[in-house]
Amino acid sequence: MSGFGAAQKYDPFARLLHWLIVLLLIAQYIVAWTMPGIHRGTKPVGLIVVHLDLGAFIIAIMIVRLLWRIVRKEPAPVEGSTLLRGVAHLTHGLLYLLLIVQPVLGWVNASSRGWQVTLFGVNLPSLAATGSALGHQLGGVHRLLAWGMLGLIGLHVIAALYHQLVLRDRLLRRMA
Ligand code: HEM
Ligand code: HEM
Repeated sequence: MSGFGAAQKYDPFARLLHWLIVLLLIAQYIVAWTMPGIHRGTKPVGLIVVHLDLGAFIIAIMIVRLLWRIVRKEPAPVEGSTLLRGVAHLTHGLLYLLLIVQPVLGWVNASSRGWQVTLFGVNLPSLAATGSALGHQLGGVHRLLAWGMLGLIGLHVIAALYHQLVLRDRLLRRMA
């Protein structure tokens, strides 16, 4: 197979959202790993605020992306064994799920620290009481899940490169 027709490509807005989220996540991981360590009594300043703002923005974009995905549907799946198509489907579904759950966990933890989370300067509601033990624990889950999500992204990127370099089926064009 030499390529995919227009009907088999993701629409331009879906492609824009895909690559916007990629850029936002790269920025978010860099910020998360460079911001100062967060402990009891840490003040939300500097890069920590950037982490919260970027995270809130990621949730907003992901909500738009999920709605768009439901309204527009994805293009017809590519050829391949039922098993591999299932794996791809599962990976994409998990990525959508994690891209919502992961930032929400961070938000719950931020609330439990008494931090105000904002989106474009607008105050968002608090998701946990200040000092909440559950909110504290979910901060640990947030740190752990960041690695789980990274592993899944790695699998996804390896699959994309495998299509491009080994199968040479131009799958990347569907999203490029
Ligand atoms: C997809 C989006 C996000 C990613 C990939 C992400 C990633 C991370 C990572 C890797 C850490 C650990 C940093 C370290 O080890 O020092 C972290 C910590 C943290 N993040 Fe996020 N984050 C995201 C969204 C958010 C959001 C939306 C918020 C809050 C509004 C948030 C609040 C926090 C807080 C409070 C911590 C410290 C948790 C603790 O140590 O208990 N994050 N984040
Ligand atoms: C932060 C990293 C990334 C995330 C979270 C992510 C997430 C996703 C998700 C959720 C889908 C499914 C879209 C849908 O069906 O609505 C998808 C599709 C796709 N992604 Fe990514 N992606 C990432 C990085 C990349 C990179 C770096 C590449 C290329 C090297 C890539 C190539 C593709 C391709 C080609 C598809 C379409 C697969 C198909 O035709 O069925 N992605 N991605």
